[in-house]
Amino acid sequence: MKAKIIDLPKIEDPRGNLSFIEEENHIPFKIERTYWIYDVPGGQTRGGHAFMEQQELIVALSGSFDVVVDDGITKQTFSLNRSYYGLYIPAGLWRQMQNFSTNSLALVMSSTHYNEMDYIRDYNEFEKHRRAYDK
Ligand code: TYD
Repeated sequence: MKAKIIDLPKIEDPRGNLSFIEEENHIPFKIERTYWIYDVPGGQTRGGHAFMEQQELIVALSGSFDVVVDDGITKQTFSLNRSYYGLYIPAGLWRQMQNFSTNSLALVMSSTHYNEMDYIRDYNEFEKHRRAYDK
């Protein structure tokens, strides 16, 4: 499975625009948790791990940042800078968030509750998992 940009609904209105997400409709999972990343100092990176089970959708609600998604062979960089685009990341991919603009706000919708056991934080271990997964 690959990461992909999902076009979210955008209701344009002279009073201001509105977008929304429905679980199992715009995204292929039920949302068990939502968290957000903010006040990121210039030059800092977040992420730098993979999940064994967790699927997620990342939205740049404000500002911009890049998400680098790595399947163990190919790295793809997604630049998020619109609140009506979501980056869907299936389980099993290494991902890092970087180049945060000042005052950027990253919203993450996750298919699981927080579970440290689901993280792969060591890149060598990730590569081993990928090889097992790809067989
Ligand atoms: P982590 O997922 O490593 O952050 P990032 O990948 O964005 O750099 O989480 C950082 C810390 O926050 C870690 O100690 C676990 C904690 N945490 C929670 O308690 N609940 C959560 O939902 C998340 C995402 C993190």
